[in-house]
Amino acid sequence: MKSPMAGLTPGAQHPTVPISKRHVLMLPQITMLILYWSLVLYGRGMRVERLTGVLGATVYVDDVKVLTDSQLESLREIACEHEVIIIKNQSLTPLEQVDFSHRLGPAAESPFIEPSPDHPEVIKVLKEAKDGNAFNFGGAWHSDFSFQPAPPSFTVLHALDIPAYGGDTLWSSMTAAYNALSDAYKEQFSHLAAIHTARDAYSPKMQAIHSGLSSMNIVCDETANDTEIHPLITTHPETEKLVLFYNRAYVRDITGIADEIEKLRLMDWLHLHTTDAKFTVRHKWSNGDLAIWDNRSTQHYALNDYAGFRRELHRTTIAGTRPMQ
Ligand code: SIN
Repeated sequence: MKSPMAGLTPGAQHPTVPISKRHVLMLPQITMLILYWSLVLYGRGMRVERLTGVLGATVYVDDVKVLTDSQLESLREIACEHEVIIIKNQSLTPLEQVDFSHRLGPAAESPFIEPSPDHPEVIKVLKEAKDGNAFNFGGAWHSDFSFQPAPPSFTVLHALDIPAYGGDTLWSSMTAAYNALSDAYKEQFSHLAAIHTARDAYSPKMQAIHSGLSSMNIVCDETANDTEIHPLITTHPETEKLVLFYNRAYVRDITGIADEIEKLRLMDWLHLHTTDAKFTVRHKWSNGDLAIWDNRSTQHYALNDYAGFRRELHRTTIAGTRPMQ
């Protein structure tokens, strides 16, 4: 018996198979397409569009204020899976942002930064047009407050006044950075721990660097010299994925390596590796964007290329747990 495809060149019309039979032949492709759209784009009832092949997704939600508990649970899972999510066109007062954030968990402690007068759990991330080239808040690769015994799980950032250009935020996936390690490095790093401290960000010697932000009050003090040891390889408490939990802003030492030069070389390498462009996503903000990112699996970096423009976002952070191997 002749194959139904016999004699066909790729792309040619089949002249003899009737329409209904042709459709039957296409059934597997149609099924796959439906599965793709339902699983990938409509993950758990919400439309999700990936931003890169590594991390980041836009999630389509009309209004985060009215999500049901099960939708909120889905959103949390999507945030853990994609590591940073962007929800567009959200209108939230500071109190509404706090209420929404509480549904993800209790508020985390935010030392050194005076909160917004609107609410003690909100930080106004604000650089005024007149602040020019002053150092911006978040302007170095970091994972929020990783120097704490239990750093924040999620950060929620709501864009209110975004410059005409510039002020994008980059995130990098520390899960992807872990997965890309050789087996030998995975084994070696599993025996190391990182010493996290806010010393080079918020100790009194750093006060001057923060003084250029006329509308943010960042108060450096000696507690920034405290240290906290976390494993270099951690297990994400919700996804159970392994993570290379490193960021240059707060990891200032590594235990288990005696040779100072070797240690510094490793720390430089870890910074370059974990922030490699291939593990990153970059977001160009619009007013109303709401970003939720997972500090347990990402680092981020707020670009400072908008001198002369005002940029304001409201930030809340959700308490996390002690990082575990
Ligand atoms: C931050 O590090 O929390 C600020 C990020 C940003 O302003 O884009």
